[in-house]
Amino acid sequence: MRTPLIAGNWKMNGSHALVDAFGRAFADAALPESLDVAVLPPFPYLDAARRALADVSVQLGAQTLNPSHAGAHTGEVSGRMLKEFGVGYVLVGHSERRALYRETDDEVYDRLLAALDVGIQPILCVGETLEERDAGHTFDVVLRQVGHALAPLEPEQRARVTIAYEPVWAIGTGRTATPEQAQDVMAAIREYQSGFDPDLAQAMRLLYGGSMSAANAAELLAQPDIDGGLVGGASLKVDDFLAICHSAR
Ligand code: PGA
Repeated sequence: MRTPLIAGNWKMNGSHALVDAFGRAFADAALPESLDVAVLPPFPYLDAARRALADVSVQLGAQTLNPSHAGAHTGEVSGRMLKEFGVGYVLVGHSERRALYRETDDEVYDRLLAALDVGIQPILCVGETLEERDAGHTFDVVLRQVGHALAPLEPEQRARVTIAYEPVWAIGTGRTATPEQAQDVMAAIREYQSGFDPDLAQAMRLLYGGSMSAANAAELLAQPDIDGGLVGGASLKVDDFLAICHSAR
């Protein structure tokens, strides 16, 4: 059985007030028993979030990391530092990083390795653009991104990776993939994993991301290959985020 994971990606949003609101709301929330929940605030709020969520079963995540552990990289943050703040998950390859900061598949792989190296679970984000979908390239694009990052890994490393399928056209647009569209791609990702190791493929956690909301989460999470969500906009509203957590049973 795969334990579902709901991860809230705040992106470059949030404040001390939002951290406190999450702390208060989760202190009172009775979450489903077999569910992992993570909050991914911007770096400056990690320590405050760690303190606010210390007594509740919500883990901490980060949105990126540098491939190096330390050195002359002005403005960057390493996995080793994140580990010191109790970070358990880190996104790699988010489409905004790929598009706005030109992160290539090679760089995504290096960041993935850096996370594995320090014992933080990477959440590898993959997904096609609307142009790629319309041209019929969805499966090629997604499996290329997955393969580039996972094929060189040792089985033990692969077992520690979570994959988030996030169609780029669904991110922040309010246009969610239909449960069937999401399921089809996620089944293909699991099938691809089976080529390496069928047991691992069954154990691997696959998240859907892209305009997941309190209204559509239950239907998406009911799909056989969707094991959770990577939630952007709706993770900035505590009540919506809690409702999504409750949809993951
Ligand atoms: P969204 O973002 O839920 O606002 O579409 C998801 C993501 O980018 O992870």
